[in-house]
Amino acid sequence: MCGIVGYVGRRPCRDLLINGLQKLEYRGYDSAGISLLADGRIDTVRAVGNLANLRAAVGLDVEGGDGAVAVAAPPATIGLGHTRWATHGRVTEQNAHPHGDCSDDVHIVLNGIVENHSELRAQLTSEGHIFSSETDAEIVAHLIEKHYSGDLTAAVRQAFADLRGHYAFAAMHADHPDTLVAARQECPLIVGIGAEETFIASAIPAFLAETRIALAIENGEIVTVTPGEAQVTDAEGNPVERESDEVLWDDEAAEKGGYATFMRKEMAEQPDAVAETIADRLSASDRVDLGQVEAALTPEFVASIDRIVIVACGTSYHAGLVGRYAIEQWARVPVEMDIASEYRYRDPVVSPNDLVIGITQSGETADTLAAMRLARERGAKVLALTNIMGSQATRDADAVLFTRAGLEIGVAATKTFTCQVAAMYLIGLWLAGLRGTLSDDRLAELIAEMKALPHKIQETLDSVEDRVKAVARAEHRGRFFLYLGRNIGLPICLEGALKMKEISYIPSDAYAAGEMKHGPIALLDDSTPVVCIATDSPILDKVLSNMEEVRARGADVIAIATHGQEKVRDASDLVIEVPATDWVLQPILAVLPLQLLAYHVARMLGLNVDQPRNLAKTVTVE
Ligand code: F6R
Repeated sequence: MCGIVGYVGRRPCRDLLINGLQKLEYRGYDSAGISLLADGRIDTVRAVGNLANLRAAVGLDVEGGDGAVAVAAPPATIGLGHTRWATHGRVTEQNAHPHGDCSDDVHIVLNGIVENHSELRAQLTSEGHIFSSETDAEIVAHLIEKHYSGDLTAAVRQAFADLRGHYAFAAMHADHPDTLVAARQECPLIVGIGAEETFIASAIPAFLAETRIALAIENGEIVTVTPGEAQVTDAEGNPVERESDEVLWDDEAAEKGGYATFMRKEMAEQPDAVAETIADRLSASDRVDLGQVEAALTPEFVASIDRIVIVACGTSYHAGLVGRYAIEQWARVPVEMDIASEYRYRDPVVSPNDLVIGITQSGETADTLAAMRLARERGAKVLALTNIMGSQATRDADAVLFTRAGLEIGVAATKTFTCQVAAMYLIGLWLAGLRGTLSDDRLAELIAEMKALPHKIQETLDSVEDRVKAVARAEHRGRFFLYLGRNIGLPICLEGALKMKEISYIPSDAYAAGEMKHGPIALLDDSTPVVCIATDSPILDKVLSNMEEVRARGADVIAIATHGQEKVRDASDLVIEVPATDWVLQPILAVLPLQLLAYHVARMLGLNVDQPRNLAKTVTVE
């Protein structure tokens, strides 16, 4: 998740921009840059790696270094800054933002993905534009250049109309030393208004040290900011009236984006994080593009795969389980799941036609790394699915697919889980595409459904919380929670129960619903909340019979159902509904109420959800 910060005002802004970027570091990044406009000229400094490298590149923190860009006389009072999390194009200084147009008059920073970048690049190139990076973002600078005839806002509006995807961007022009223009489509964008100065950012913490007056920009809107002012218009240029708000967060709340905890903040980031994970990989409507992965795992190798083995621990293991169902369903390759700490001690049989997928958000979990190494030593190809660039997993694998969840500070995995699930879906569809196991129509339909997931995740988070809180209020003093599901609903039960144990310390178990009658049914009485995953699927009727068995024992059934499914309503005591999607994709929505349930139960019990007892974020000790 990239970070944007912009400033226009009366103060020299180099340090304001870098300080703002520092507050956005939690979003994760691999390079950073700033552009400053002074004396009719824009100077840019970009650096690969962390902000220390950017600070060094502008001459900060270096003995006697004044900073080439920043001290250009007169000091710039308008500028843009960016932290980049690579999507299109490698991690290089050239691909870092800000990006300029052909004449370097327009500079932009962008968060998100421009889906139609290839068509636009081809068209702009044929019109004579020269590109200097491999990014989708640079297209925006050239589009603004193309449409510009003196009015920056009008040029941004026209460029905005040409773009498809999910993004937010901010632009400046050498002819307009008092104006920044920004636009939002799905990715967050917020304006901070101070005395004779205005900020633009992806998140409030970027400017909170400077001003507490914030103005939210909505989807499809364009904002033109000048010192101390902001004019919002819709995509057609009609003025939009919007009141600014005072942000009342203290420093600690600011770090948590105004949420009470990192965990809740990270749950709220899921739409954005999943969008980042999938978007550029689904830019075509008929195939999945896994970029660098495709260099190591060639079509010939993919055609030869006899078996996939997934190794992972904890929440990552549950993401793998969802992936198993999706891969088998779509790509018809047999998939085995292994808990990484078990795999390496059972002398596994490995063949060169095995693809082993190691899932580890941190990329540093000792058991998962050991399993990946063992598989590789024994001749399998290994694909790492991780969230952390430069982590050990990236070095122990033949190919790496990154989730792009940004940093996850809460110990309990939430947004990294949904991004892992999304990435497993991508792998499933990619394999199906290469192995020809889905018809073109079905593949296109699933890709379209995948693209809608970030919206649906947002819709779910917005709609379920009150109901979930009601359940938490009623059950938080309970002695035991049971989670039941079948097929692709089962991994979500395992994840829900893990979250409940890990942050609420309430004993909980997850069972394949069909197994309940073989023992666990003895646990049920009228004090046991039973959470059932009853989203649409070919075996929903089977799940419904299991729910009847539960109710017959007097236990309360809390069903997670697809919106509008009457039969589930009739068979449960309380229903929490999630939007409809393809049944294989339902888990990524169904897990959201379960994360929230564990969260609210823990909060009602007064527990520290960000740092559960006895747990650390990464388990690296053998
Ligand atoms: C649970 C949780 C853990 C991790 C597990 C693996 O919320 O965070 O179960 O999923 O320790 O960690 P990674 O994915 O870093 O290998």
